[in-house]
Amino acid sequence: MTSMNFFILGNQPTLALAEIASVVGKNHDYSLVTPEVLFLPDDDLNLSALQERLGSVIKTGLLLGELPKWDQQELAQLISAYSQEAPGKEKISFGISVYDVDKTTNNNELHKQLQRLGLETKKLLKETGRPIRYVSSKESVLSSVIVKTNQLLESGGEFVIFLFQNKVLVGQTVAVQNFEAWSERDYGRPARDAKSGMLPPKLARTMINLAGIDPKEKILLDPFCGSGTVLMEAVLLGCKEVIGSDISEKAMADTKKNMNWFSQNFLETRPNLLLFISPAQQLKEQYQTPVDLIITETYLGPPRKGKESENSLKEKMQEIETLVKDSLIELKDLLKNDGVMVFAFPLYLTDNKPIALPLKKLFDQLGFEVLNPIPESSKQLCLSLSPSGGIIYQREHQFIGREIIVFKKKY
Ligand SMILES: C[S@@+](CC[C@H](N)C(=O)[O-])C[C@H]1O[C@@H](n2cnc3c(N)ncnc32)[C@H](O)[C@@H]1O
Repeated sequence: MTSMNFFILGNQPTLALAEIASVVGKNHDYSLVTPEVLFLPDDDLNLSALQERLGSVIKTGLLLGELPKWDQQELAQLISAYSQEAPGKEKISFGISVYDVDKTTNNNELHKQLQRLGLETKKLLKETGRPIRYVSSKESVLSSVIVKTNQLLESGGEFVIFLFQNKVLVGQTVAVQNFEAWSERDYGRPARDAKSGMLPPKLARTMINLAGIDPKEKILLDPFCGSGTVLMEAVLLGCKEVIGSDISEKAMADTKKNMNWFSQNFLETRPNLLLFISPAQQLKEQYQTPVDLIITETYLGPPRKGKESENSLKEKMQEIETLVKDSLIELKDLLKNDGVMVFAFPLYLTDNKPIALPLKKLFDQLGFEVLNPIPESSKQLCLSLSPSGGIIYQREHQFIGREIIVFKKKY
């Protein structure tokens, strides 16, 4: 039977699904997907390597079995059998997470059920004579931080139960997000500029992956590079050369500082990096060689406080439209014919309809074609696609969202 892999999608599920499909390939069966988890049949996936590569996925693992309903005894037996197989250490540390996929059980009840299962499993494991530790938390789901800091994957396992209305699936986690490395690149870098906005490194990574091109040995350009988030992720993914440009001298100084820090702390050799201070609309005056990938977050407008009138926001968006249009005209010549662009454009969130750029019109005028990053087979998931065919990225309490669009030149 084909192995069934699972991917926990995190708080931007559409983006995570699109990222997985762009890296693994759209020709797989993506029909078993919910806003929390994707189940993907495939025998040949290297889940640890995939987890390392993907920016938007929290955990990956393999399904072990299926039960018709919650059965504490059977679940405890299954989990204790698998946790004894953990390599190396004498002590067994295990944890259990429950994802209530169909939202059938109330949280309190779920937590109590989980605690009882944990204790029952511990009791069975004690019969091995080895020291046993059951790791639990206040939530029904263990975070990647808990899984990692307690070394569960090396010494017993994290077991993951998916509750559906008509079945219970049990899996074992193979890898979790390396939260320390992500957080070090996000908060540890020497230059940060919250005012003009920085992409979270995970989102920068996801955007590069969405291009659907193996970045190894490729040339990547970020023409609004800010403090260099996309450039760092591109180097980590093995790009042969990365080019950053920005209109602001401060942004360029920040990028230089961050890239120096990054090279010294994370790389064995210095990356092949070219940096320019330039408006994106005039970049060809300084740089002419076409690239494989243009991955960027454009200017988003000034920071928002949330009280701006719709008219003033619309005016701002019109200014950005001119900047985006002129930049795209310039950048089209700097993209190879088979190259791909992934842009984060601003989306102003208001009490009414969000205010967006008229991207459909712009792309038609300028000769670009939007690529749908969502695989055909997962259409049934209620997906947050924007009218221009982009994926909407928004975080709680923020007034500026982003429209993430994958596109290429049209012929
Ligand atoms: C939202 S920030 C990008 C942040 C970047 N992704 C990061 O993670 O640091 C937008 C950047 O666009 C730059 N910018 C604004 N107008 C520009 C233009 N016409 N050409 C190039 N860069 C421009 C700003 O200086 C700013 O650094």
